[in-house]
Amino acid sequence: MPEPQVINHPLIHCHLTRLRDKTTSSSEFRQSVKRLAMLLAHSATAQLPTTDVEVVTPVETTTGKELANRIGLVPILRAGVGMVEPMLDLIPTSEVWHLGLYRDEATAQPVHYYSKLPPASPVDIAFVLDPMLATGGSACMAVEALKQWGVTNIKMLCIIAAPEGIEKLRSEHPNVEIHTCVIDRCLNEDHYICPGLGDAGDRIFNTGA
Ligand code: PRP
Ligand code: URA
Repeated sequence: MPEPQVINHPLIHCHLTRLRDKTTSSSEFRQSVKRLAMLLAHSATAQLPTTDVEVVTPVETTTGKELANRIGLVPILRAGVGMVEPMLDLIPTSEVWHLGLYRDEATAQPVHYYSKLPPASPVDIAFVLDPMLATGGSACMAVEALKQWGVTNIKMLCIIAAPEGIEKLRSEHPNVEIHTCVIDRCLNEDHYICPGLGDAGDRIFNTGA
């Protein structure tokens, strides 16, 4: 079973601090999510297989590389949308397949309300994008949908993970790689990550009270 990959990098720590700060504006929050997603992507894509291709430069012919697989980005609505643009910038040929899930406020159980996954022809590698891995319920539901679609290589990219969410995802889906910027202390009684950053979707889309 792959160990969760936690990126230890000074830029990650600085951008995370901006995300956590409750006075950070929605605009700066979105920028910080993008920057963190890019740093996360750098680490999570390090082992992607490539194939050699011939490339003709203005000077001579040489050998370059291109990605060997069909890559899918799977943002979990809403907050995962904030991580799509930097991933698409880095992997412009990737496909984006949206999944709509929200947590029931009373039970913290995920509710599935939208899926754009087609019935056939799954991607080779799927990157599930969601800034928050809290109880792990949403991530597990997303992974189940991807497995049903036929995806066998699934990587979870989150910005903040709680130990509880990591444990649930690893126990239900041991072959899913987890890449995160940080593992926080715990969940509180409302199932929010501590110290966390609050409600990621509300902060990205400026819909908090
Ligand atoms: C947040 C977050 C994850 C989920 C994580 O979404 O973006 O999808 O909670 O929690 P879990 O690990 O306990 O499932 P939320 O339910 O707030 O939906 P929203 O982005 O639409 O606001
Ligand atoms: N979802 C969030 O947006 N924040 C949390 O702390 C937990 C779940």
